[in-house]
Amino acid sequence: MIDFHTHILPGIDDGSRDVDMSMAMLREEQSQGIHTIIATPHFYANRRSINQFLERRQHAFEKLQTALEKEGKSRTSLDSTEGKSRLPQILTGAEVYYFAGMGRADQLPQLCIEGTDTILIEMPFDQWREDQFRDLKTIIEKQHLTVVLAHIERYPEFQKSMRVWDSILELPVIPQLNTGNFLKKDSFFSRNKKRRFCLQMLKDHSEVLLGSDCHNLTSRVPNLAAGRAVIAKELGEEVLHKSDRTADRLLSA
Ligand SMILES: [Fe+2]
Repeated sequence: MIDFHTHILPGIDDGSRDVDMSMAMLREEQSQGIHTIIATPHFYANRRSINQFLERRQHAFEKLQTALEKEGKSRTSLDSTEGKSRLPQILTGAEVYYFAGMGRADQLPQLCIEGTDTILIEMPFDQWREDQFRDLKTIIEKQHLTVVLAHIERYPEFQKSMRVWDSILELPVIPQLNTGNFLKKDSFFSRNKKRRFCLQMLKDHSEVLLGSDCHNLTSRVPNLAAGRAVIAKELGEEVLHKSDRTADRLLSA
């Protein structure tokens, strides 16, 4: 299992506060059977340059890596001989908030998930516009990147007109859904509506990715396994296999 959207790196955004929290989140992901986690800290072009972001991300990643190495050394040989499952592998990425002109930003590939041409983009929580469609089209056609749209279920409520939405969804973009939508927690009505939307998305689209979008261990928790269990119950295991194949394909590209 791959968690495609997380804020697990310590102290870089509104996700994990520190290394201890990141380690606890990692253990939680491990206990759910997740083998790979994409770390996708927020990137806002109006706050930092891409270089500054990459530097900060590297720093956060190294802090976590140091803690992981320490833990590795403190493990007893008994742990390894009993084949205790290893903590998930972390790949660095970003949740890139849309910015005007991003289609032509030549540093954009540096924000892709490491080793891939796949970029996770967070769209504005507002009526989508024609120029935003054009930017996404340019990213796909001129920069040859694969665009994943973060938590696609969060945008429809802002679309008074669905014209641009429809055009964007006709592009070869890959929608990503947050698994929390499958678990009742918020007000019943809004959650139910989003849940129906997400299930429909999984039925209608050949390629959909899943992520927990976890930020911590209290309010926005790693919940991939629980969300997947609901999907399996509602739509059958094959939908999950299909999503796993998409994730594998993107990471091996
Ligand atoms: Fe996120």
